[in-house]
Formats: sequence, structure tokens, C-alpha cells
Amino acid sequence: MALIVETKDLIRDFKKTRAVNGLILSIESGELFGLVGPDGAGKTTTLRLLAGLLDISEGDATVLGFDLKDKAESIKPHVGYMAQQFSLYGELSVMENLQFFAELFDVASKDMAERTERLLTFAGLTEFKERRAINLSGGMQKKLALACTLIHQPEILLLDEPTTGVDPISRREFWNILTQLHLQGTTIIVSTPYMDEADRCSRVGLMYAGKLVECDTPKKIREKLDGEIIEIQPEDWQKALKAVAGLGGVREAQTYGESIHLLVDSGKRRLPEIERVLKKEKLAYRSIRIAPARMEEAFISLIRKLES
Ligand SMILES: Nc1ncnc2c1ncn2[C@@H]1O[C@H](COP(=O)(O)OP(=O)(O)O)[C@@H](O)[C@H]1O
Ligand SMILES: [Mg+2]
Repeated sequence: MALIVETKDLIRDFKKTRAVNGLILSIESGELFGLVGPDGAGKTTTLRLLAGLLDISEGDATVLGFDLKDKAESIKPHVGYMAQQFSLYGELSVMENLQFFAELFDVASKDMAERTERLLTFAGLTEFKERRAINLSGGMQKKLALACTLIHQPEILLLDEPTTGVDPISRREFWNILTQLHLQGTTIIVSTPYMDEADRCSRVGLMYAGKLVECDTPKKIREKLDGEIIEIQPEDWQKALKAVAGLGGVREAQTYGESIHLLVDSGKRRLPEIERVLKKEKLAYRSIRIAPARMEEAFISLIRKLES
């Protein structure tokens, strides 16, 4: 596998802020790489650096073999960058937006018709091609922005929170498109605040204070959770929560719908203790078990550890 992105001790400063602070990142051809991390962690700056849109301050970085120190311009035709904020021309129609981006990226006019048709189909926008971008739903705008990003057939996609603020159905549709692109071999780097999306990536990098502090498959990241999860489905979750949240070994208590997730030091040790308390307090439950950790739980516990 070829390395597509490689950074070593990459630094980017804005006047008083070190937005990227010694980033070490390697991404191989064909990966669907998820970048997660709290606000201000440096995700956007990283993506903009890799897109060749910002100069690096210090360190080394190559994208497709081009050195970001002096060849950032050469990278641009090879990447598709989608900014988090609205990047379309609202007054132009869907079709006109695609044509605009095609011209911007010097797509040959003989390829234009076939390519726009294909992308419209791909994004499910064919029947809306005459509609002005401003009049599309949020989810459709995101799909159009993605289609515009794909018009010059980039080898790498850099997507900055492409689904933030979009409804769950549109988010799923958007990710189905990303999965198809991934299967076709496009390298994708996508930042996201949604843990279910992180779970759909082939690898996830956790950014914190300008650094990559964890980087692994979603499964391995979930396994890094310090402790275990006990899931209880009680008849009365409010009473049950009160009874178990303060017990020994319970580090955190969360509710998901009507079930309770407890982060405990040891599942084997605490499960019988918790059962005993529930029985003693006459709190009925449908089930209790040691459950696999969710991405969100692993993520929050990793961040807590960094902050302590
Ligand atoms: N153009 C800029 N000028 C000054 N500071 C900036 C600029 N862009 C980002 N920053 C700062 O750099 C840090 C990282 O920001 P950013 O890369 O946007 O993080 P994220 O995308 O993870 O929220 C933040 O402290 C932010 O305020
Ligand atoms: Mg950002």
C-alpha cells in the first residue's frame, strides 16, 4: 500500500495559537480515515494544510509525494476539499454549480456532460438539477457540495464535518455515498463530531490540542476504554439509576433510552454486586449484562484521561 499522506512533527501557528502542534500522521491509499476530537483540536487546520490551502509553519508533510513546504500548489488538482460551511453558489442551480466547479478545475468540456450526469445520479439529485442551491434541503446541499468536490475526479477527498447539522436520514445517505467511493478506491479523510460515523471508518484518529493522541481501527479504539460497561434494562430506570450510580467501582452512569450504561472498573466483580442491590431494593429489570463499549464511551474516557 502506498502512503498518500505523511506528516512528521507538523506545526501550524496562527498569531498566538498553535493550531497543529507536532502532528504525526500516516494515511495509506484507499483508507477511509476519520478525524475526531473536541472543538478547537486542530481538525480543520489539518485538513486545510493537507489540501494545500494553508502554509505549514514547521515540520514535514507530504501529500501524494508532494512536499507541502514548496509544492502545495501541485497538490490542489489531486484533492477534493469540502469546507464545513456552505460553499455553493446559492443563486445558481444544481447543474450550474457543477458546471462552475468543472470550469474551476479545468474539466475538459467533452467530459462535462457525462460527468455531471453521473454525479447527479450518484448524489440522487437528477430530478433537482434545475433547482437553485439555496432552495435545496440541508442534506441535499451537502450532497451537491460533495458532487462538486468530485467533479475533477480527485484521488483524495478531504471532508470537514460534511454532515454536521444534517438530519439522520440524510447523514446515512451521505455516508452510503462515501462508502461507495471508498469501495471504488478513493482515499477519504473526513472529520466528524458523530461517533456513529467514526465507527464507519476504516481507521480513526483522535486529535487533541493539535496532536494525534490515538489512531486505530474503531474496534481497537473501543477496546481501549478503561473499564467495562454494564448495561441494565430496568423496569423503572429513574429509580434504578439512583440506586446504582453511586455504588463502588461505578465511574460513570449514562442512560440510553430506557437502559442504563455503567462504566465500571471490573464487570465480573461489579455485576453480581449491582444485581444484589437491585434485588434488595426490589427494583425489577429485564436484563443485565456486560456490554460492548460504544465509540462515544471510549472516546469520552480517552478525553477524560487526557484532561486529568
Ligand atoms: N485563521 C485562524 N486564525 C487564528 N486562529 C485560528 C484560525 N484557524 C483556527 N484557529 C485556532 O486554531 C485552533 C484549532 O482550530 P481548528 O483547526 O478550527 O480546530 P477544529 O476544527 O478541531 O475545531 C483553535 O484554537 C482556533 O481558534
Ligand atoms: Mg473544525
